[in-house]
Formats: sequence, structure tokens, C-alpha cells
Amino acid sequence: MKFFIDTANLDQIKEAKDLGILDGVTTNPSLMAKEGITGQSNVMNHYKAICEIVEGDVSAEVIATDFAGIIEEGQRLFDLASNIVVKVPMIKDGIKAIAWFTEHSIPTNCTLVFSAGQAILAAKAGATYLSPFIGRIDDTNWDGMSLISEIAEIYAIQGYDTQILAASIRNSRHIVDAAKAGADVVTCPLPAILGLLKHPLTDIGLEQFLSDHAKANSK
Ligand code: E4P
Repeated sequence: MKFFIDTANLDQIKEAKDLGILDGVTTNPSLMAKEGITGQSNVMNHYKAICEIVEGDVSAEVIATDFAGIIEEGQRLFDLASNIVVKVPMIKDGIKAIAWFTEHSIPTNCTLVFSAGQAILAAKAGATYLSPFIGRIDDTNWDGMSLISEIAEIYAIQGYDTQILAASIRNSRHIVDAAKAGADVVTCPLPAILGLLKHPLTDIGLEQFLSDHAKANSK
């Protein structure tokens, strides 16, 4: 399973990259706004800055919601760097645009996915990645992770190439469950990635090893 970081914060992207496990980045308009990145040229420059840090795929989301607008914006994003993936919402014109991008060899990430039916449509259109939003489904008291399992089963039966990118990850447990459910990629906030490191027995064990070593070597 590939690890992406779900942020537009350059320091967090660098920190995840320094861990040596980072395969890519996802952003969305809310994450860009959170970093205070506004205005078209600043947004474009920020994507370029992210692509200079990370070699893997960087999802950049279109704002347009009509076919012509999505195509025009997606092409501009794609031209920014060789690792840009155009992120397109799961709407009628979005699916049409994903099919067009597929025909023109432009990689896509179909976002805001909440059902298996949407996942089938995106795969038929040739999306490179599909982003089901786990946390947001959990927020409605449904089981987000069961959607990942259902899509993984359908994609395996049908032989679809679209990669399942588990999104809206809220904690480290989600990462483990996404791996079990068959996600190809997981995109996570930095704390969820760092949370995977933690276990109290690791801390206790390490403290013991270091203290035994110090005692033995002070004699
Ligand atoms: C990433 O591609 C999604 O936009 C993101 O994971 C959404 O996460 P959220 O539900 O925490 O906003």
C-alpha cells in the first residue's frame, strides 16, 4: 500500500518525506485555504513547490464544475509538473472530463466518492485513483471502511485498474483497516502517520534496553 500525505503544508510534507516512506501528496481546496494560499498564481506556485519536494504523484484539485472548465483547468495543472494528478469531483461533468483526460493520457484522481456505484463509474471512465472518503462516512454513523472492502471486491472481480485511494483518514487505526480492506493507497494527515510509530511497550522496552546498557557500561 502506498502512503500519501493529505496536506498542503510544506513543512509537514518535508517531515513525511524525511521519514523515507512518502509516495505522494493529496490536496484539496480546503487544505490550500487552510495554508492561506489564495489567488490563481499563488495556488499554481504552491503546487509547483510541493512537486519540487515530492517525486511521487501530487493531486491538484480543479475548482471548475463544468466540462470545458474542468478540462481547461486540469490541463493547466497538468502542465505545472510531471507528477501532477488532476483531481476531479464525482459529478456528471467530472466523469466526462475523467474520460477525456484518460484519452489524453492525463492521470486523474476522482474525489468525493461515497458509494460503490460511483466507484464503478469512475473506473469505467479510466480514473487513475479513486478517493472514497472514509472519515466523512463514519461521521454520518455509517461504516466508511466497508466501502473500501466493497470497492476492492468489485475492482478485483471486474479487473479494473483504478487504484483505491482511501481518503478522509482521521487516525492510525484507519490506516491499518484500509490496508486490510484492500486499499492501494492511503492518504493521511501527518499525525495519523506518526501515530503508527507508537506503542507503550516499545517505549518501555527501549527505556529498559538503554538503562541496562548504561548500567553495564558504567562499571
Ligand atoms: C483527500 O484527497 C481528501 O480531500 C481528504 O482526505 C478529505 O479529508 P477530510 O474529510 O478530513 O476533509
